Order: sequence, then structure tokens, then C-alpha cells
Amino acid sequence: MGNAFKTIDHFDLKTKIVLVRVDFNVPMRHGKILDVTRIKRTLPTLIELMNRGSKVVVMSHFGRPNGKKDLDFSLKPIAGALSVISGKSVVMTKSCVGEGVKKIINEASSDSIVLLENLRFHPGEEDNALDFAMELAGLGDCYVNDAFSCSHRAHASVEQITKLLPSAAGRLMEAELSALDKALDSPERPVSALIGGSKVSTKLAVLGNLVKKVDQIIIGGAMANTFLASKGKFIGNSLFEQDMVGEACAIMANAAESDCKIILPMDVVVATQLVEGAKKEACSVEEVQAGKVILDIGPKSVDRLVKNFSNIRTLIWNGPLGAFEYKPFDFGTNVIAQEVARLTAANNLLSVAGGGDTMSALVNAGVQDKFSYVSTAGGAFLEWVEGKELPGVVVLRS
Ligand code: 3PG
Repeated sequence: MGNAFKTIDHFDLKTKIVLVRVDFNVPMRHGKILDVTRIKRTLPTLIELMNRGSKVVVMSHFGRPNGKKDLDFSLKPIAGALSVISGKSVVMTKSCVGEGVKKIINEASSDSIVLLENLRFHPGEEDNALDFAMELAGLGDCYVNDAFSCSHRAHASVEQITKLLPSAAGRLMEAELSALDKALDSPERPVSALIGGSKVSTKLAVLGNLVKKVDQIIIGGAMANTFLASKGKFIGNSLFEQDMVGEACAIMANAAESDCKIILPMDVVVATQLVEGAKKEACSVEEVQAGKVILDIGPKSVDRLVKNFSNIRTLIWNGPLGAFEYKPFDFGTNVIAQEVARLTAANNLLSVAGGGDTMSALVNAGVQDKFSYVSTAGGAFLEWVEGKELPGVVVLRS
């Protein structure tokens, strides 16, 4: 990222009230947080700001309450987790704007963190409304965006507010941008992209951008079935998108023009249905029988990918290679993820992963901490791989 973005190094923070936009949109079931990674990752920024003499006011959305106050989407469970994780007392407000909120901020000790209630309880947030951004901006002296994972949204607390307050990237935002830049914009070559998941239709723009930028694309997951079908292979009862067969052909033609190699499975693991512990069989992609469903890449494909990775210097990973939620169909994803982790530890590979199911797949493989960088972002990661300018990032450029 270099000096292209304003960071908190550019601010004199002593005695300032700093509004920090974070992404505490964490997975939650019945009020219980299932994964606190997004909360943990904001700590370096929050603690540094406090150590440098700022009063920290944290703001986030949670879920999609559609501009209405709906306590099912309250940040309250997150306040407790933030307090435990940070070791600081957390003062939670009942709204995110208004005189009452101002009073709480003014009275809070600078050794505690103020957490505002869900920004999306107000329609002005998603409308990127100036008046709502003005109300938020009125709560502090400067603004820090530490929510790369929300920066594809032109929302008031992400975009509009930067027009009203001195603004900078937080440490997590810096880390995300720097990792993503090293992987896609100035990578050490050869660079490979591993794109899995179920649908070509959701990854068309991703693949369209990648063929111009990377040396090879490994395609896995049910997406690979659509590509195999486009090459005339019989895929039995496997999940695929009939209406994307033409697009798959076009992607392969564009890749050939750009000297980007497309790597499809040479063999696959099949079963009669997708259930935990189903009996699996491996066969070549020429031999899939009627009634069978492709659920993972096969052992020969796994070996070929492992060998291939020894020649690669940079890897961008999005999406699983098989139906990893159901054992034993997590085998291909696990072996490949573990090999990427090994090469990364040996300093032979820069590995960056992100988006959707990817984190869960890496957790399942036991390597979530062993890549060079695992982005906390879902949609924002994909838009970045698509080559789009993210509105919340653009406004932080110096
Ligand atoms: C995410 O979880 O990807 C971000 O918090 C964005 O959430 P959204 O898709 O509801 O805008």
C-alpha cells in the first residue's frame, strides 16, 4: 500500500475523539458469536489509538435490519465479546447518533471503548445520506476506516463521512490492502488463482479479471462441473449451470488469448448422493457414470496440483475445491490447503485467501493461521478480485 493511503501515522491523536468504522458483522446464532476473528483483528488499531491518547468510538453494522431498529440485530452481544477480547471496559450506546450518544462519549473515560448501536438501524446509513453522515461526524474529531470488508459499500459510515472529517485507514485496513496489493497488483510470478465454489455465475467477473492478470487459474468445486460440461464431458447428476456453459467456453477462450492456463480436474471423487460419510469412488473425468455426483477433485488432480505449486510464487485462493462441509469430500481441499500452508511456511509462496466459504474451508483444514494472509472480507474480497475500485478505499487515497 505504501504511502498511497492516509494512515493513522498521519494523525496527531492526543486527546482526540476518533470514530473507528469496524466490521463486527460476525456469524451469530441465538445471540452467541460463532467466530470472533473480525473482532480480534481490529484490536491493533483500537489499542494503538488508546495508547496514543485518543478516546475511541467504535461503529459497525450487524446484519441487514433494513434501516429499522430491530433488537435481533443489536450489537449488544458483541459489546461483551469486545470487552473480553480487548480487556477494556466497553460502554454501549442505545443508538448511534443523537444528544444522548454525545453525552455518553464525552463522559466516557479514555481507557474505555464506546461502542455505538447498529448503524443500519438508520436508513441514512445504507442511503449514504449526508445528514446522517453529519450526525456521525459530529460525534468525533477524526475518522478511521478499519473495515475493508465493508468498503465495497458506499454507505454513510464508510464513504460520506470521509468528506466531513480527517480520515485514514486503520491497521487492519492497511494489512488487507497491502496483502491484496502484493497478491494481485504487484505479485511475484508465476501467480496462480484457485477459484472454487458452486457457481460460475457468481464468479464471472472474478474469472474475467483474473485471466488478464494471473498465469494460471485452478478451477474447483461444482464450478468445475460447468467447465467440464462445456468441454463435452459427461458429469452424471452433478450440480452445474446449464446456462453458464457458453460463458465457461468464453472464459477458456479469453484465457488462451491472455496466456493464462486454466487447470480443470483430471479425475474426480463421486458418490451417489451428498451426505456425510457417503461411500466415495475416484474416476477420471472421462468415466463419470450415470447417477453419480462429483463431490471433490480426485487423487491424481490433488497430486498434480501439489507438484504444480512448487513452481508457483503467489497464490490467490477463493472457494473450496469440493463439498468440504461433508466428510470425506473435504479431502482435496484439505490436502491442497495444507500444502499451501507448508510452502508458505518455507517462504516459497505468498498465499492470500478470502471471500465467502474460504475461511471455513481453511479452518476445517486446520490452516487458517498458516497462509500469508487470510482476508476477513467476503463480498469486498470478491469485488477486489474483480478489479473494482471499492468506494470506501478510494476515499482514503492521499
Ligand atoms: C460482510 O459481512 O461481508 C460485510 O459486513 C458486508 O455486509 P453486507 O453484505 O450486509 O453489506
